[in-house]
Amino acid sequence: MKRTHYCGDLRDSHVGQTVQLCGWVWHWRDHGGVVFIDLRDRTGHSQLVFDPTADAELHRRASALRSEFCIGITGTVRPRPEGTVNPKLPTGQVEVVVTELHVYSESETPPFPIDEHLDVGEDVRLKYRYLDMRRPALRDALLFRSRCANTVRNYFNQNGFVEVETPILSKSTPEGARDFLVPSRISPGEFFALPQSPQLYKQLCMIGGLDRYFQIVKCFRDEDQRADRQPEFTQIDVEMAFIEPEDIYQIMEGLMTTLWKDLLGVELKTPFPRMPYWDAMERYGCDRPDVRFGMELRDVGDIGAESEFQVFRSIVQNEGKISGICVKGGASFSRKEIDDLTKEASIYGAKGLAWMKHGESGLESNIVKFFSEGLQQKLIERFGSEQGDLLLFVADEPSVVYAALAHLRLHIAEQKQLFDPNEDKFLWVVDFPLYEKDDEGNPTPSHHPFTHPHPEDLDLFETAPLKIRALAYDLVLNGLELGGGSIRIHRRDLQYRMFKTLGIDEQQAQEKFGFLLDAFRFGPPPHGGIAFGFDRMVMLMMRLRNIREVIAFPKNQRAQAVMEGAPSGVEASQLKELGLRVKA
Ligand code: AMO
Ligand code: AMP
Repeated sequence: MKRTHYCGDLRDSHVGQTVQLCGWVWHWRDHGGVVFIDLRDRTGHSQLVFDPTADAELHRRASALRSEFCIGITGTVRPRPEGTVNPKLPTGQVEVVVTELHVYSESETPPFPIDEHLDVGEDVRLKYRYLDMRRPALRDALLFRSRCANTVRNYFNQNGFVEVETPILSKSTPEGARDFLVPSRISPGEFFALPQSPQLYKQLCMIGGLDRYFQIVKCFRDEDQRADRQPEFTQIDVEMAFIEPEDIYQIMEGLMTTLWKDLLGVELKTPFPRMPYWDAMERYGCDRPDVRFGMELRDVGDIGAESEFQVFRSIVQNEGKISGICVKGGASFSRKEIDDLTKEASIYGAKGLAWMKHGESGLESNIVKFFSEGLQQKLIERFGSEQGDLLLFVADEPSVVYAALAHLRLHIAEQKQLFDPNEDKFLWVVDFPLYEKDDEGNPTPSHHPFTHPHPEDLDLFETAPLKIRALAYDLVLNGLELGGGSIRIHRRDLQYRMFKTLGIDEQQAQEKFGFLLDAFRFGPPPHGGIAFGFDRMVMLMMRLRNIREVIAFPKNQRAQAVMEGAPSGVEASQLKELGLRVKA
């Protein structure tokens, strides 16, 4: 049976035509002896009619059909009788009177109904992913994702980029997560690493003269799972030669504008705002601020130091930090609500949450007495506080202050619906520090060790490496990191200086990244790039909250492939061939 139309295609204009449709039995109804079936495929569904008075045998066979049987039909399109038209359905004007029926295959009762409105446990959905895929939600996400990928490819092709495939069996790349390792049979005892990103290969493509590279590529990271992370995920990966950060911003803003326009019909305004890393930390407490609402942090260390409040004074004396936020209208929060906020802050290490309500006669709370009139006035001015507002303060080490207030800010905004969930606010966070402290207090790269330091900060290498800014940038959307990248080091001498600060000597550098350092001997061009989390981007565009909703076959929260049953043990003979033994 050759299909003439998809199930979602039929309209008024098809009335009178003989059509052939293929798909799955969705809903099944018997109205006064007449059998109605919704036949569903990828595009939607059409109503089929089996009338016993027209063809008793066909009606008998239709009565035996069950949910998810896979069938094909021939029939005639006719208008639905008056009163049965469904204006909400694209195919709701018409129905198909069936004249021929072919059953391709029967179906057992599915473990969950193929209905978009029913909540089904995630592991069951993952185990029967092919059935989940028949449901409109996942189906639409995958169709949307495919259109996104198309737009991305077209965009880069039109802008002179070369698509290059880079190896999956590779050497460890330093993106900061654990590697997935693959043992080699031919070189026993040796391992490939799956790439955490194609970082080094794309740089080598620049040295190879390709000038503009892109790839939609799988990356692998053995890290703890979260709603916006998967152990294997997809990046839109980009690298360009002879460029400055500005060129990257322009190209990527162009890509976002094109995607939002083509797929969402939304015109984005460019250029996107830019914010230095330290501004983001000071004003939002994190490097990926959600700027859809205000409630910005303000440092009040100076006021705290002058007050008589011992907690604040001693924190400042010990080089700690005091910041606060002003919750508009928050003076109406109950004692319990403030206690709950204190608990929220404590998740991030805050030892307390000081508060002041802005009442009729000024600030009120258990600690206001420690602040002179003048200091109270200063607080009010610093936050632009008005009657009815609530001030919340955390005093601690800077990292705790930032984390606790950043969380409170988001928590309150979410609770009180302080932003429009349909608005998208992009932001470039720039001037990231080149290094951060590791657990032992030593410098470790904030991004990866090929990131170019800010040219104005080169003198700090030997004196204050933690103060060096990097030519690195992240694109943030509604508080999530969509992508990140940097201008790269392209000179061996600078690369070795970078390694030296990291405590990597020349021999270690040669062992780890020798192939890149070797390439730097042959006229490397200045270059830089960026990578976007493709899954994350699709998730945000579709207003979904879980990255697994836009991935065909994702791993579950425990990084397992539930359907295939992976990871799993292997045959002893396979281990032997690889020269491996599993410790019991
Ligand atoms: P980075 O490590 O910042 O940069 O990764 C780029 C983007 O990839 C997405 N991402 C993830 N998405 C889903 N699951 C994960 N586990 C995951 N990890 C990262 C994020 C992130 O912004 N090579 C550099 C880029 C460069 O410098 O050009 C890199 O990989 O959206
Ligand atoms: P106390 O003096 O311990 O009774 O605390 C008085 C108020 O200060 C309470 O509301 C505490 O939650 C708050 N507080 C205590 N420690 C801190 C801190 N490190 N940062 C902010 N507020 C604090």
